[in-house]
Amino acid sequence: MTEKNHLAPVWSQLTGLKVASGSGAIVTTVDGEEYLDFTSGIAVTSTGHSHPKVVEAIQRQAARFIHAQVNIYIHDLLEPLAAKLNEITPPSIDTFFFSNSGAEATEGSVKLAKAASKKPHIIVFQGSFHGRTAQTMAMTMAKTGYKAGYAPFPAGIYTSDFPDPFVTGLDEDATTKLALKSFDQVLATQTAPTETAAVVIELVQGEGGYRAASKAFVEGLYERCKDKGILFVADEVQSGFGRTGKLFAVEHYGIEPDIMVMAKGIASGFPFSAIGSSYELMEKWPVGSHGGTYGGNPIGAAAALATIDILTGEGFIENVAARGDQLRSGLEELAKAYPAIGDVRGLGMMIGCAIVDPGTGEPDAARVNAMLTHTRENGKVILLNAGTYNNIIRWMPPLIVTESQIAQGLAAFEAALKATEK
Ligand SMILES: Cc1ncc(COP(=O)(O)O)c(C=O)c1O
Repeated sequence: MTEKNHLAPVWSQLTGLKVASGSGAIVTTVDGEEYLDFTSGIAVTSTGHSHPKVVEAIQRQAARFIHAQVNIYIHDLLEPLAAKLNEITPPSIDTFFFSNSGAEATEGSVKLAKAASKKPHIIVFQGSFHGRTAQTMAMTMAKTGYKAGYAPFPAGIYTSDFPDPFVTGLDEDATTKLALKSFDQVLATQTAPTETAAVVIELVQGEGGYRAASKAFVEGLYERCKDKGILFVADEVQSGFGRTGKLFAVEHYGIEPDIMVMAKGIASGFPFSAIGSSYELMEKWPVGSHGGTYGGNPIGAAAALATIDILTGEGFIENVAARGDQLRSGLEELAKAYPAIGDVRGLGMMIGCAIVDPGTGEPDAARVNAMLTHTRENGKVILLNAGTYNNIIRWMPPLIVTESQIAQGLAAFEAALKATEK
């Protein structure tokens, strides 16, 4: 926080802006200034701030029931929401457990995988981010800063390479082969398939830098998991609910995960998350061995149902893909003129732009910071960074963003590139 007050200073703070309201892609400060919010509250408000349909659903439900605890009652939105999620997730997923945050659901998915397989270990990937609880912090490999000072961590977590050509310095094919070799090696040297409950993977890494895994890697990993009886857990917390131009990132890869973890975009900002799997798997989770006071909250369920209704409305996802194409081609054009743009990566409206020193190709986090300040102060556009070296500018506009708002974002970005040229 920027000034001393009664708020814990542990929160990092990007803008210092004091906001009073939000509508669509715009947030308004207490002083009446308007900004284009291209962070979507870290990929959450995909339907825009306070979408009228979501607001109406929340208001209606608040008057009916605020808290109908799931161990005590079965409220009347639980099954409709599970049925709706069944419709929009891959055929392998038909049964759902609800909780409150991404970390809670990711941690829950590991409990489910361990309980169902009766195996103790999991494999995660370099560059991963799975949350801030002890278990999910231990599963996070994107940055030491997320973990420093909190050891010891829960055990039984092994790390395999994520296919990242920026790390290997090789082309996509060679990088894919290396990452699959790394996985084979982890299984041969550290945790045998008989001891490995699951792999947990973000198919498009979020905090790690908006890097999409290659299709060949995901196919190879999936095949190995099927062969060796290892559960495939897709962490779709950041990539889910339309963010990548499809409802879920798994659809880009043509795979059906055993377990899917969902949060963020699921309820337009109301804290809500879900774990999905087959009924056969869920049935192996001993009754009472997992739960939570607030999971499946009726207001959250109402917000999620309204959100899904909007996302599956006619033309919605097509607009995400079209705006994503506009954004990506705009950034690729800029990359031709500005050698500081080292890479444009990601899928749909989950796009990362690596900023590097044009001379050395090394990450340039200082310039990213200067650029984020410039786009905010001069262009009234709020962008956020990501990546192990803090040099990825990530684009995650609300999915209802318009063509002219994307153009405004790109113009602010180009102005920031110009202003920070060395
Ligand atoms: C892929 C992924 N998994 C899990 C989490 C943790 O979610 P939450 O912050 O809601 O606990 C995040 C948050 O950024 C995420 O991006």
